Amino acid sequence: MTTRRNFIKNSGLLLAGSVLPVSLIELSFAKTSDNFTFAYISDSHIQQIKGNKFVRNWDRGLIRAVAETNMMDPKPDFVMYGGDIAQLGKKAELDHGLEILSGLRVPETHYVMGEHDYYLDLGEYWESQLGPQYYSFDHKGVHFVVLNSILVDEGWTNKWASGEERMGVMAGLDDPRGSPFMVGEKQRKWLADDLEKVNKDTPLVVFSHSPLQKLFKNWNFWTEDAEQVQAILKPFKTVSVMYGHVHQIQYNQIDNISFNSVMATAWPWPYPKTYVQAPNMMPKLTVDMNRADPFFERDATGWQMIDVNSGRLSVDFFLPENEKRRVAFNAAKGHPEDVVYATNTTAAQKHY
Ligand SMILES: [Fe+2]
Ligand SMILES: [Fe+2]
Repeated sequence: MTTRRNFIKNSGLLLAGSVLPVSLIELSFAKTSDNFTFAYISDSHIQQIKGNKFVRNWDRGLIRAVAETNMMDPKPDFVMYGGDIAQLGKKAELDHGLEILSGLRVPETHYVMGEHDYYLDLGEYWESQLGPQYYSFDHKGVHFVVLNSILVDEGWTNKWASGEERMGVMAGLDDPRGSPFMVGEKQRKWLADDLEKVNKDTPLVVFSHSPLQKLFKNWNFWTEDAEQVQAILKPFKTVSVMYGHVHQIQYNQIDNISFNSVMATAWPWPYPKTYVQAPNMMPKLTVDMNRADPFFERDATGWQMIDVNSGRLSVDFFLPENEKRRVAFNAAKGHPEDVVYATNTTAAQKHY
């Protein structure tokens, strides 16, 4: 399996970049990006039943995404995995998920940390297999940043009798004993330092697991320090944030930042506004997915192919046996929109 660590080891260019004078780095970032594509797979929630028995449906979702990604033409330049490989953070679950992902025939796969990967051992095994929990890289004139956005304050992290208990609480979507996610001060400082070296005209793409915006706190569709992270991204002309975790299509624009979520390969979550009375804020721009068909186990799950055109993202959602969705940046309107449903919602969508 190619890991990010191997990639860095093999990439003389990246290593050289770290010792170049700052002005030279800015020059190399400033050129217009070539068009390219990458694939995005997320939230597989591989779950061990016992020994080498795993929940078959979650396995099938990831296996299908890997197979379909391998069939794409043109081939994606890389794959981004959006977090929650595992359901309960176990070594066996991470190993099994990574074994399935090792079937990807792409030059490189990058990984984002999900809370289901993290809270058993605080990311130790994940990091031993996949490298640092936050990092950045450059590709064809675009600066990519990966953040671990699912941290919480240390008081919460340390109050549990065992890692299993802590993981069990975090694994519940609406467990009131949970704690709001955040990027945290240490990583925000790292982000500011990382971005200081980058020309502000360079397209910037940030990957997180939770949304770097506040949608619904009770389900952690939320990042506590979202505004502070957004402020660090503010000086850049073209900024996109992509996140997993919500298991549904969402898109939004806040000031200079475009937001896109991705689907899960495991199962869909409902839109909070359809389920809860508590205050919640779904982005006004988002046209919901139709309600998942409970009689079709793969409905409203899938994976994404993302076209990067001069730094703007167009997201094609691949939904098994369902209509494709495409969310693209509309330059005239200055925000992402659903190419088909922006003006043509279905009956089920109107019902919401
Ligand atoms: Fe998830
Ligand atoms: Fe998650």
